[in-house]
Amino acid sequence: MHKYEKIWLVFGIGALIFFLSVIGVSAFYLGNQPPSCLATIDPDKVDQTAPFNEPGLKKVEGKDWDYELVYVAQAFSYTPNEVEIPKGAKVKFIVTTKDVIHGFEVAGTNVNMMVEPGYISEKVATFDKPGEYLVLCNEYCGAGHHMMYSKIKVVDNQ
Ligand code: CUA
Repeated sequence: MHKYEKIWLVFGIGALIFFLSVIGVSAFYLGNQPPSCLATIDPDKVDQTAPFNEPGLKKVEGKDWDYELVYVAQAFSYTPNEVEIPKGAKVKFIVTTKDVIHGFEVAGTNVNMMVEPGYISEKVATFDKPGEYLVLCNEYCGAGHHMMYSKIKVVDNQ
């Protein structure tokens, strides 16, 4: 075998082993997993299915987060349309859609989810800064896509 061919072979196999190790450490040691999409729902029965029968903010006890904030998305709006949450609250967003794929982005935070019919999208975030946050749809969903938004007001209760 040619000398350069050997060098490239070692380099190629080395790179393969290196990158597979990175994936292995990330998955098994750091616990990074792709979203499971295990939380499913019948998209025709969203209004009758808990917790989506009562969208909005709920205080919860004994969980890793303080509040659960339930949203129903549909062309071209979110329910609830406006929510007030206290400053510093750790909030779990629980979102589903009744019709087509929508986006769920809370501008200025790392909450940015795809909302698919039949599935429940969840994300936990903490709101330390008071102010108004825009929730917007970032998946094209039809003629009213650009009008699909909601508001979160983070208020200082002190
Ligand atoms: Cu909903 Cu775009």
